Amino acid sequence: MGETAAPQPNNSMPESIEIGSAKSAGKRRWTGERDPEADSSETDSDEISIKSTKSFEAQNIEYVLENDRRYCNDTYFMPNDEAEQTRLNITHQIGLILLDGNLINVPLVKKTPRILDIGTGPGDWAIEMSAAYPGATIIATDIGVFDNGLGSTIELPNVSFQLDDARDEWTYHEPFDLIHIRSLAGAFSDWSSLYKQAFCHLTPGGYIEITDSDPAADSIAFPNSGDSYLGIFASAMRSAAEATGYPRDLRHLTPNVLTDAGFVDVRVLERTIPVGLWPDDPREKTLGKMALISFLEGLEAYSLRQLTAAGNWTSEGVRDLCEKVKRELLTAGRMTCCVKTVTARKPFSRAMMRKNHVLQRLMQMDDVNGSDFT
Ligand SMILES: C[S@@+](CC[C@H](N)C(=O)[O-])C[C@H]1O[C@@H](n2cnc3c(N)ncnc32)[C@H](O)[C@@H]1O
Repeated sequence: MGETAAPQPNNSMPESIEIGSAKSAGKRRWTGERDPEADSSETDSDEISIKSTKSFEAQNIEYVLENDRRYCNDTYFMPNDEAEQTRLNITHQIGLILLDGNLINVPLVKKTPRILDIGTGPGDWAIEMSAAYPGATIIATDIGVFDNGLGSTIELPNVSFQLDDARDEWTYHEPFDLIHIRSLAGAFSDWSSLYKQAFCHLTPGGYIEITDSDPAADSIAFPNSGDSYLGIFASAMRSAAEATGYPRDLRHLTPNVLTDAGFVDVRVLERTIPVGLWPDDPREKTLGKMALISFLEGLEAYSLRQLTAAGNWTSEGVRDLCEKVKRELLTAGRMTCCVKTVTARKPFSRAMMRKNHVLQRLMQMDDVNGSDFT
């Protein structure tokens, strides 16, 4: 434990945030004009936004500025400003090292696969997939716009960035061969219904791949980390998230959530990576360094909105806690982070199986996994 007692929620805070109200203290709207100072500068204008739904035009995008961070809407807890974009760029690189340069954990055999990346963020994964699979058609969706990805002016021939909320009814006309979801813990209150939609929008034999790790779900650990500021930080975020109905846990990576939606061949991959400079092995040291930077940079992003909006903390209280966690982590020793990936497949239909002997082996696997063929 660090040098002072755990910060207590302060009910008299001036900056408490009322979800849904742009005029709440500490919160302003910004329409997405490309002003480099806009992330941190004050403006007098409270509400100058134009609502944008599914079509994307950078000028019409609405942001919420809150406690000096930029958010894509009134509710999603992670910011989408430049600092967060840089952090996501780093975590993407960590993912690449973990997979030895690969982007997926499942086979993608078609020459012209259709791929959906939900919650693409700055779009690093989708952009690299477009180069790795030039024959693919990639739809990359998000509810917000980073300066890359949806906000990019770069035209990629096989990637379509679209503003879309995955909680809404999906309206894609053609099925996908792969649906990819990375780092969306806390974004959905009902993962089962998301998985059911994904199942419907996959081609038979198509894969879903979901990867997550979240300090609120105790993904980060060091010896005795339960009795620490990190423990307080994680538990405060969990409680605040529960209060919003969007839990910050990894239950959506439990195999039966996928099998209940109809998926088969569910595989769970857990990778433990070092956080910090403690490993001797050069590859592990690089990973540890990147993970430490990403985590230290992410402390505020993970917690600020959730704790101020739903956890009754002041922004100063949250930042103070983040500082304490940061100091603790810099001296924590052998810290690690668990990154969990789950992959699963939509079963083939019997008719399709009969036509293809190679697929019969897979059908047997489906039978073992207990799927219902139509
Ligand atoms: C932590 S970022 C991860 C970004 C990206 N997947 C990556 O791995 O770099 C989560 C992203 O999910 C998006 N998101 C949150 N809720 C969403 C929803 N309901 N539908 C679509 N995207 C959503 C956020 O706007 C944010 O860009």
